Amino acid sequence: MSHSWYFIFVSIWLLAADNVVAQQSNRQSANWADDEAHFNSSLALILVPRVVGSRGHTQVRNYLVNSLNGLGFQTEVDEFKQRVPIFGELTFANVIGYINPQAQNFMALACHYDSKYFPNDPGFLGATDSAVPCAILLNTAKTLNSYLLQQFRNRNDLGLMLIFFDGEEAFREWTNSDSVYGSRHLANKFARTRSPTSTSDQANLGPRHIDRIEVLVLLDLIGARNPKFSSFYENTHGLHSSLVEIEQTLRTAGRLEGNNKMFLNRPAGGLVDDDHRPFLEENVPILHLIATPFPDSWHTPRDNAANLHWPSIRNFNRVFRNFVYEYLKRHTAPVDLRFHRK
Ligand SMILES: *[C@@H]1O[C@H](CO)[C@@H](O)[C@H](O)[C@H]1NC(C)=O
Ligand SMILES: [Zn+2]
Repeated sequence: MSHSWYFIFVSIWLLAADNVVAQQSNRQSANWADDEAHFNSSLALILVPRVVGSRGHTQVRNYLVNSLNGLGFQTEVDEFKQRVPIFGELTFANVIGYINPQAQNFMALACHYDSKYFPNDPGFLGATDSAVPCAILLNTAKTLNSYLLQQFRNRNDLGLMLIFFDGEEAFREWTNSDSVYGSRHLANKFARTRSPTSTSDQANLGPRHIDRIEVLVLLDLIGARNPKFSSFYENTHGLHSSLVEIEQTLRTAGRLEGNNKMFLNRPAGGLVDDDHRPFLEENVPILHLIATPFPDSWHTPRDNAANLHWPSIRNFNRVFRNFVYEYLKRHTAPVDLRFHRK
């Protein structure tokens, strides 16, 4: 890797620091209601053992596609076969939903839907890893649906992408090759795809699909009691700070439960390898929303419904939907958070 990387720190969020304060009343008026009945029914359908190749996996994959279609997203299933340790050849499928697929750029929200294979625990559910994050993405789309299908629909500058990665988990042991099967496949595909956008003329192919992603927001290990989210990447500190601000605003307005401060305005002490790796390698800005320390139940039979903490889940849903809404709503020009070579 070259040593000549530097940041161009153009964040609408930083530039809009005053705005954040000025728009607090605005924020309160955009009081997007919870839809916990929807969250619960989504989670119930995702929270089954869903190891790649299993029946539960196929059911969840189909549920995600149907659910996205029902919410007005255009869907794409990126299916591929690959050999893996223990099982041999498996069929994987990333599920992607788009609003405004023709837009110039995208905000991408992501999680993984496969559950980890444990030879001694065939019933492993992966509630926080990552059934809850997947249900959060669907619930965000559901609670913002009137906005997404009306004011946001048909914008040319920005689209919304929901990505449900397959095969995040290692089959034998976590290595660069035994992990993140789906995201490696999708990043590679997006790096090879060029499609004309509404702003590129028909004769010229548009930019690489992967370069149209302004930020990949990856959710993982969410649903346990009192999570903490630090900022992992300097180029998305501004976005992370806006989560801190939104949480504070909602708490002041009495719209959060308990007093756990989820979003910490500080850099994380290290990095966590996850589905974002192949996108990071393609210079896609990453906002990694993973609880650190990890939930106690991580990769144990206790990562199930009984150990979820509902006030923390509700709080996350509330902060996150406001964050997504504000990003989409305030977006007026391309946001370039990429690292640029000198
Ligand atoms: C969703 O499920 C949780 C846990 O079972 C429960 O506490 C909550 O009341 C449910 N919400 C709705 C709207 O049914
Ligand atoms: Zn895991």
